Amino acid sequence: MLPNWPRGVKRGENAAMHPFARAIVRWQPRHGRRGMPWQGLSDPYRVWLSEIMLQQTQVDAVVPYYERFLARFPDLASLARAREQDVLRLWSGLGYYARARNLHAAARRVCHANGGRFPDAPEALAALPGIGRSTAAAIAVFAFGRRAAILDGNVKRVLARCFGIADDPATAAGQRTLWDCAERLVPARDTPVYTQGLMDLGATICRRARPLCGACPVRALCVAHREGRVDELPAPRRRKPLPLRRVRWLVALRAGRVLLEQRPSPGLWGGLWAFPEVTTRDAASLGRAIGCRIAALRRLPALEHGFTHFRLRAQPLVAEVRDSGRLRAPAGRRWVRLAAAANAAVPVPVRKLLRELAAAR
Ligand code: ADE
Repeated sequence: MLPNWPRGVKRGENAAMHPFARAIVRWQPRHGRRGMPWQGLSDPYRVWLSEIMLQQTQVDAVVPYYERFLARFPDLASLARAREQDVLRLWSGLGYYARARNLHAAARRVCHANGGRFPDAPEALAALPGIGRSTAAAIAVFAFGRRAAILDGNVKRVLARCFGIADDPATAAGQRTLWDCAERLVPARDTPVYTQGLMDLGATICRRARPLCGACPVRALCVAHREGRVDELPAPRRRKPLPLRRVRWLVALRAGRVLLEQRPSPGLWGGLWAFPEVTTRDAASLGRAIGCRIAALRRLPALEHGFTHFRLRAQPLVAEVRDSGRLRAPAGRRWVRLAAAANAAVPVPVRKLLRELAAAR
């Protein structure tokens, strides 16, 4: 059996608090993070929005998006009524856009099928689009005071170190062990403080690199600390190099406007606006593809963007279109004023290039 394994802890209301949970519940109010705008709220809509935005994104990046989003969609009903385009525009720059599409779909489902009432059980929350087991637990804990275990990347690291779990967290067996450990530790009372403390510990003390073990409230229990294995745990992921996907972007410029195309949804950047992807470098063929005459074509340096499963290398081809005819684009494409295009619902690398083009004019 693993040292310190939280076996002896009974489940249920009268369960004793495991020393790990007790230490975290004491530590959080004095040393945990404070002042995050979603902290201490029990409005399930706000809690849900924050937990979705905080998936894969750091607190500092989330705060301004969270506030803008709530100013525009202050409650579930306003989000359910919104057009997907407007939701995506507010998400633009935050990345992982499936989160925004799922959020919108879940808002509609809760509004229409559930009479506007958020489910409060973790299992029911996890049945909504975009809400996995750990996010469902976080919402159930913070919004409804339920007792449920979270297990995000940071928490996996804390548990692997503290309880000496050497299984690869990416395997089914590793997942099972970590979930079992996480569930056994959740205290029957003070669950929101414990959950926030666990998140805070993972983010600020038990960091992947250079953890601050000297300030850790569970140092005395920590197997990795005692055995000098902090750098070894959790077992490193065996990462395959990510495949490279190459694309060519046609950046057509005409009378201070740029041609943007709405990406098919679902799909990469689905619903967002981006440069048309092309397969040729031939000016005549490109001109035919967009129904214009191209007067000059030049390449810009390729840019790279990382996704979870691949890297994208985009080669922009800037085409100066000299036609004097009416600006008309086929359905799904638009000639957008270059000065305003970066504020549309565009993904980050597209926005970056649009800003550079606008600045160079
Ligand atoms: N990451 C996920 N949920 C969080 C929360 N409620 N506070 C801070 N970071 C988080």
